[in-house]
Amino acid sequence: MTTTPSEQGVSLGMPQLPAPDYPDDVRARLEADAHDVIARYPDSRSALLPLLHLVQSEEGHVTRTGMRFCADVLGLTTAEVTAVATFYSMYRRRPSGDYQVGVCTNTLCAVMGGDAIFEALQDHLGVGNGGTTDDGKVTLEHIECNAACDFAPVVMVNWEFFDNQTVSSAKALVDDLRAGNQVDPTRGAPLCTFKDTARILAGFPDEREGAVEASGSAGPASLIGLRLARGETSAARVVHPRGPGAPRDGAPHDPSPTEHLSSHDAPQDTSASDPAHPAGPAAEEGE
Ligand code: FES
Repeated sequence: MTTTPSEQGVSLGMPQLPAPDYPDDVRARLEADAHDVIARYPDSRSALLPLLHLVQSEEGHVTRTGMRFCADVLGLTTAEVTAVATFYSMYRRRPSGDYQVGVCTNTLCAVMGGDAIFEALQDHLGVGNGGTTDDGKVTLEHIECNAACDFAPVVMVNWEFFDNQTVSSAKALVDDLRAGNQVDPTRGAPLCTFKDTARILAGFPDEREGAVEASGSAGPASLIGLRLARGETSAARVVHPRGPGAPRDGAPHDPSPTEHLSSHDAPQDTSASDPAHPAGPAAEEGE
């Protein structure tokens, strides 16, 4: 029986991680996809992150075969690919569930109920941190802050946000996932499986009808940031009166225009003694 150079752990003149090959048809399909991705970058090695998502979309996690595939098509060593794949927590290194359920247990979410949700889900699902339910549907983990602290406690499924969760809503969420019911995150498209999500993250379009236009269970009000980024609306600009004649602490402002994009962007008073904000008309004009 003959072995390929890759199976012998030698490729491109560099020692490579021994790993079985993909079946020929799978490798041919992945190579075509990989070349699509690589063509988007001036330097092919910049395509490593999306290619790791691509191989993750094939098997649900990044296998040795997937890492060697990435190394082969990018001309890297498997050591280089492994260093990247093991650095980022979004790449899974072992078989896991269709839905990666992450409960934020960083400080704010924890005190707002994240710790209670994580404990309740461990009991409800019968798995610990990193564990997968027997039906292969849900992998539970606790996660770090996802910068959605104003909606704490936050649960993420396949990196989509579920805001303002409670123990009961989180249990209902995982029950729906295991039952195969459609689940809409707070923002964005309806959930798809981890493999399908990985393919989208590799840079391929979400071809589900209406998915791109979907705005999630919270409706379009939560897409203010997106509308701002697209230039479809402009942020309210509020000039804070400072210097002589400005209202002192406790005196009412007239922050005009008064349109605020959310409850979180209301004008905040700044101390007149704040050295970062020199008082006076010139400073105001220069803002
Ligand atoms: S602490 Fe949970 S999103 Fe920031």
